[in-house]
Amino acid sequence: MAIRRASLNDIPFIKECLIDSWVEHAKNHPELMTEERMRNSKVEDYYSDAIKNNKGFTFIVETEGKKTGLVRVYQDKVANFFKDPDILYIDDIYVVKKFRRKGVAKLLLKEVEKIAKQLGIKRIDARVYTFNKPTQKLLESMGFKPPHSTWTKIINS
Ligand SMILES: CC(C)(COP(=O)(O)OP(=O)(O)OC[C@H]1O[C@@H](n2cnc3c(N)ncnc32)[C@H](O)[C@@H]1OP(=O)(O)O)[C@@H](O)C(=O)NCCC(=O)NCCS
Repeated sequence: MAIRRASLNDIPFIKECLIDSWVEHAKNHPELMTEERMRNSKVEDYYSDAIKNNKGFTFIVETEGKKTGLVRVYQDKVANFFKDPDILYIDDIYVVKKFRRKGVAKLLLKEVEKIAKQLGIKRIDARVYTFNKPTQKLLESMGFKPPHSTWTKIINS
């Protein structure tokens, strides 16, 4: 396995991965997301802006020359009353289905930790939906904890 920064050539791969993940989210939460909107998301615009303008960090893992996973993180600031308000936020993480449970995501998260250390950042955050047990297990295995949750109610008119 090899890890490297993403380039513009990776955008079709990134798009395919993220749409798959988002559609899965929409299937689990039709009250919050529509599959159609997820499929029509402007992944290309967001990622080409991020890559061209060095906004955050996007990494790609390749296994035997094939792209097998990606992560995107960016620097953010949370409220000043937190002990460590400068954070690295995990925007997206995805591993190609055939290559799961082989340590690809772990490698990606280790790289994220390296970046955090280089930037002097002590806190990494991610948002994970309650249905998404694999991601929760992954984060647990890497020492993350869920100190709070977001609660949502849809008001029917
Ligand atoms: C979550 C995801 C990124 C994990 O990628 P992966 O490369 O398979 O993860 P790894 O092989 O590095 O797993 C590391 C550890 O995480 C845990 N884990 C990962 N997938 C798991 C699963 N399906 N069930 C239980 N534990 C799991 C295990 O502890 C695992 O260690 P082990 O294999 O030695 O038991 C992958 O399942 C994925 O891409 N899911 C869809 C995209 C997604 O939901 N992204 C997150 C959006 S917030």
